[in-house]
Amino acid sequence: MFPAASLLTTLLLALSIAASPVEIRNSPITLPIARRLNTSGGTINLLQHDQSRAAALKNVGESTLSRRTGSITVTNDAVSYIAAVGVGSPATTYYLIVDTGSSNTWVGADTAYVKTSTSVDTGEAVAVDYGSGSFSGTEYTDTVTLGDGLTITAQSIGVADRSEGFTGVDGIIGIGPLDLTEGTLTKEPDTTIPTVTDNLYSQGIISETVVGVSFEPTTSESDANGELTSYTGDIAYTPLTTTYPASYYWGINESIAYGSTTILAETAGIVDTGTTLILIASICNRATEDDTTGLLRITTTQYDDLEDLNFVVGSNTYALTPNGQIWPRALNTYIGGSTDYIYLIVSSIGTPSGEGLDFINGYTFLERFYSVFDTTTSQVGFATTAYTDATTN
Ligand SMILES: *[C@@H]1O[C@H](CO)[C@@H](O)[C@H](O)[C@H]1NC(C)=O
Ligand SMILES: *[C@@H]1O[C@H](CO)[C@@H](O)[C@H](O)[C@H]1NC(C)=O
Repeated sequence: MFPAASLLTTLLLALSIAASPVEIRNSPITLPIARRLNTSGGTINLLQHDQSRAAALKNVGESTLSRRTGSITVTNDAVSYIAAVGVGSPATTYYLIVDTGSSNTWVGADTAYVKTSTSVDTGEAVAVDYGSGSFSGTEYTDTVTLGDGLTITAQSIGVADRSEGFTGVDGIIGIGPLDLTEGTLTKEPDTTIPTVTDNLYSQGIISETVVGVSFEPTTSESDANGELTSYTGDIAYTPLTTTYPASYYWGINESIAYGSTTILAETAGIVDTGTTLILIASICNRATEDDTTGLLRITTTQYDDLEDLNFVVGSNTYALTPNGQIWPRALNTYIGGSTDYIYLIVSSIGTPSGEGLDFINGYTFLERFYSVFDTTTSQVGFATTAYTDATTN
């Protein structure tokens, strides 16, 4: 399907139907997500990619003007996390980036939008600038099908007639907070657009506006989708941070310690499916920066000495094991690395701390900890999974 190296992984997005907002074990929806690395353009500099996303995310809402143009980033061509989503009836399948850092859902970047009897043109112009890409077009409502035939009717979706930076994907399924849609409708800038999560709730398909994200680590290039990675133990919740700009996203307060040494005092940052790495402001370390991948590189001796990286959220500590701190060695060449090295997936956010978005718990964190995004109670929850301590990398 994709010209680029396709890296299927058993990433699943689960939406709750349970009576309690915390119970997501029996999810009605599993939406397999594939991680795609585009190596055709030469080397992927993962760090550069993630740092530019971080910089653009920090720009949100800086002024009314940038808020209106939705100055948030999602992607470039290097790495993306995509799900197959049906639109229309009969449905056309679009491959959409699953993004917790933006909230508009739209199609048409690559595969052209196919109108069916369920397609309704609202006549509204829509535009979003993502920093490293953008789209503009017309807002439609249409039937959207997720996972195993779960159907949302009259979902508002953008239909791009122009887009930039989305080669090889069709658009985005935005599962960020509703407010991020403000300013994206040209004629009605104060109007928000109900997200897929909002409509699943208002149409009675889920009982709470809660999204659980469960990513299973993989080291194989074409892993078939496996079973739902459920969590073990309890989900512990923390309130969304009030600190700007992290407060625009799934933002939380957290401190980070390497072993018992605090490397980031409690501060605000975000949990983000669109960032591959774990980025931390003003990180100091003894690793070598690798010119090709941008990642920090360690020797096997240094790896043997690695301690846990502890994420302290409220009264809970989530320990990322040494194995969870490295890029899967079997995939080193996919990011332009060498099989001789060990690359760390923890890196610098590129800006000093104290700027209101001082860390990003990206995909490599989400692989090890089940995450719940709860709109109803304005909380983010984490739980351990069977993969938290797994030696997969
Ligand atoms: C891969 O990256 C190259 C160079 O950045 C770009 O030209 C190409 O369109 C990308 N392909 C896909 C499928 O994203
Ligand atoms: C998060 O940290 C900020 C800055 O220290 C503080 O003002 C806020 O009360 C904390 N908690 C939340 C939920 O934002």
